[in-house]
Amino acid sequence: MSNELLVRLKACGDFPRHVAIIMDGNGRWARSRLLPRTLGHHAGMKSVREAVEGCIEAGVEVLTLFAFSQENWARPATEVSALMNLLDEYISKETANLRESSVRVTVLGDRNSLNSRTLTAIERVEQDTEGGTRLQLALCIAYSAREELTCAARRIAREVEAGTLDPQNIDEQSIAERLYTAAFPDPDLLIRTSGEQRISNFLLWQLAYTELYVTPVLWPDFSRTHLFEAILDFQSRERRFGRVTA
Ligand code: FPP
Repeated sequence: MSNELLVRLKACGDFPRHVAIIMDGNGRWARSRLLPRTLGHHAGMKSVREAVEGCIEAGVEVLTLFAFSQENWARPATEVSALMNLLDEYISKETANLRESSVRVTVLGDRNSLNSRTLTAIERVEQDTEGGTRLQLALCIAYSAREELTCAARRIAREVEAGTLDPQNIDEQSIAERLYTAAFPDPDLLIRTSGEQRISNFLLWQLAYTELYVTPVLWPDFSRTHLFEAILDFQSRERRFGRVTA
């Protein structure tokens, strides 16, 4: 099934360079099986692997995953620490595979809010995979788009104050260059699982012209077949970027 979809999407040729995913529904997946929520998050790790491998197969250049928001800190302490442990587990289990597949990992978010163990794990995976050229994997951890924009505004204000930036010269590029995502093109396709139709404080600036795709599939059930279906759907869209069709 997934091979057949891959052949179809390759034949179309109009690939998204950057796919972003809001991985949602782990809790509901667990609840429907009478399992603790943390087991839903654990099951979601397999889908992260599917998404990474699927993006490599489809020729996607950047995959951005929303793994933990600033708002998620307000979840019960046991769930927060389970999610941080899961991140550590993902990094220790997957770094060798990611390196072998030439995946470069970058973590986007407020690092000051992370504990030293997670911070060390993040720095290690970034260093160990920095030679990767096939896929850039951006993991959003302790990430909030409003906070990202606030930080960019603060940086710009400091530069103006220091006299290194003229307010006349502030344009869209000045803001984009000061976001966590400065090194990446804007996402072409945003996938959200579990049927929720919200952006949830994710990449608010970068999603201006991104195609949105919502699937009812819960994140732990998400496989590369679902990714290829989303890309095929993207390929059928007409992107006008506010203009009219030629
Ligand atoms: C949302 O589901 C999901 C999260 C808050 C965490 C996502 C994390 C993973 C998939 C774990 C692995 C990721 C990496 C990068 C190691 P939810 O808890 O809001 O689900 P619900 O809406 O059904 O309650």
